[in-house]
Amino acid sequence: MITVKEAREKALSFLSKQGLEREFIENVSVKLDDAEKLINISRKKQPQKILEIGTFVGVSTAVLGLCLPETKIVCIDADLPVTLQNILCVKKFEINNEKTNLYFVEKVLQQLEILTRFTLKRGFFSCCFPNKEDLDQVVNYGIKPEDREIIGPKVCEKYGPFDMAFLDADHRKEAVKQDLILLSRYIRPGGAIVLHDVGLDYWGQEVRQGVEQFLKEYPQKEFRIEGEIGFISI
Ligand SMILES: C[S@@+](CC[C@H](N)C(=O)[O-])C[C@H]1O[C@@H](n2cnc3c(N)ncnc32)[C@H](O)[C@@H]1O
Repeated sequence: MITVKEAREKALSFLSKQGLEREFIENVSVKLDDAEKLINISRKKQPQKILEIGTFVGVSTAVLGLCLPETKIVCIDADLPVTLQNILCVKKFEINNEKTNLYFVEKVLQQLEILTRFTLKRGFFSCCFPNKEDLDQVVNYGIKPEDREIIGPKVCEKYGPFDMAFLDADHRKEAVKQDLILLSRYIRPGGAIVLHDVGLDYWGQEVRQGVEQFLKEYPQKEFRIEGEIGFISI
């Protein structure tokens, strides 16, 4: 059985060869520690079907695919150009790459010979950017709003229910709450939602607040945190 470290390294080294700066990819993607926690819980649950929200260029996607060889995985990403992703979220790199996230996701899954188990969908999950400044930047960049619709409800209806979800998309509290409300309706009883970036930094606090607001409406759900990874049992 492939280790999480080997799976992550395969994805990172392939993506670096595609012209993406490794430090940039690692900055946005799941770290080894967190990937191991994600896979540990996934292997215990033995999911037949997973929904991943927020793929970026496919590191977590490839790790899920390689470490869970029997699982079908549906992925949703806003699929912005990599350059724009840097401008909006990371800011500290000089990235000049007009290709979009899902272009790389498809390439890496193809290279690893696991693409046939995946369904890749472009769009926002439960809500668009709540922040007008970000939305203006996206539109000024030349992205047409009609090319990035809210697709979560349709995708869940068509491909759900899921045994598990991995949520690593918009970390603003309003978005996290909306995403969880939609997701929780499409996860089978006994399943789980795994969240990334629930630590104590700025974005971790936002994600935690989003979860708290969700739990106020769904108090029977259980939330557990291990470092940067959170689990909601459904
Ligand atoms: C932190 S990155 C994901 C990293 C990836 N899970 C990994 O570890 O390799 C967040 C991703 O979420 C996507 N995203 C942000 N808001 C979204 C939304 N509302 N719906 C779907 N995808 C979204 C972004 O395009 C970005 O690729």
